[in-house]
Amino acid sequence: MATYNPVQNKTGKTFERTLTYDLYTDPKVYQQEMQDIFSKTWQLAGHVSQVEKAGQFFTTDIAGEPIIITRGRDEVIRAFYNVCPHRATKLEKSEAGSKKIFQCGYHGWTFHLDGKLNKAPNFTGEDAHCVSDRCLRSVRMEIMESLIFVNLNDNCKPLLETYGDLFDRLKKFPFLGELKRINQKTRIIKANWKAFIDNYLECDHCHVAHPSFVATLDMKNYQIITCNNYSVQASMVKPDKVMGTTNLNDAEMQGGEFYWLWPNLMVTIYPGPGNMATIEMIPIDHETTLGVYTYYFRDENLSQEEKDLVAFAEQVRQEDVELVELEQIGFRSRAFNQGIYSSSEKAIVQFHEMVLEALGR
Ligand code: FES
Ligand SMILES: [Fe+2]
Repeated sequence: MATYNPVQNKTGKTFERTLTYDLYTDPKVYQQEMQDIFSKTWQLAGHVSQVEKAGQFFTTDIAGEPIIITRGRDEVIRAFYNVCPHRATKLEKSEAGSKKIFQCGYHGWTFHLDGKLNKAPNFTGEDAHCVSDRCLRSVRMEIMESLIFVNLNDNCKPLLETYGDLFDRLKKFPFLGELKRINQKTRIIKANWKAFIDNYLECDHCHVAHPSFVATLDMKNYQIITCNNYSVQASMVKPDKVMGTTNLNDAEMQGGEFYWLWPNLMVTIYPGPGNMATIEMIPIDHETTLGVYTYYFRDENLSQEEKDLVAFAEQVRQEDVELVELEQIGFRSRAFNQGIYSSSEKAIVQFHEMVLEALGR
């Protein structure tokens, strides 16, 4: 097995080594990550435009837990485990809809949109009071820039505290609150979830792998800034390549900003008409990941500029998927057990340190 020794340049700077590759191929590591990372961190559940009106709901899955998000008659958005308190049956089967009341398909218990029990038909008369406090179990939920986050750890730090000044940074994009969730694409990626995060956190590969990206953005002034529990990469668009030149305000002209939020969420804002995209890397097993790509614009009838932007982003994403799938083949090989970071890969160093800390290594 070949490993890197720490390498120094002439100024004495040491280049650090990456995570060992068993962390990308070992099913036990995946299981520990589900426990120690995904069940304890803020995970994107959806967007407020999915529950615009009272009665609307959607269901999702967070670290293997069925979750339901509802907007009550009091207009409050709430998150619950989508599990019946009677005998554990998954309560709501559909992905989204609008209801006045939820009914469990097993023994017919019904629940209000705020999670309180309405009726338990098999507990009547004298028995009814024994179950009257059996509500749906709530989950920690917070909303940031219209994105709905859920954390399975009841004692977690608030979202604002977790990501520090991220929300101040996002204030320069005043259009974020006006956006709606327009469409979503998923990809099954044959690679460990961390391989895609690594790929996102550096742009050394952009010149080789993303010709359309480097043709559009000013790569000479590409910045990577690591912050508390998140990092951001930023670049201005080349003056002759501004996408969507009509009626744009300054914030919309500023260029691309690509955020990563510990552990597995990426938020991208491209130059051009008010837009945002989120990418979630959801591990399916140690070597398979569900990539969820969601696009947000002001209106569901996309202009040509907006359609072009989605096509541009999708092309870059497909190029990245092919790279990480090739990388996963090498992770399994006996050729090497570790890689090395370049000096422009410091955002990966931050990510890897956080992984090692979360796994107690
Ligand atoms: S399991 Fe839901 S009503 Fe019995
Ligand atoms: Fe890439």
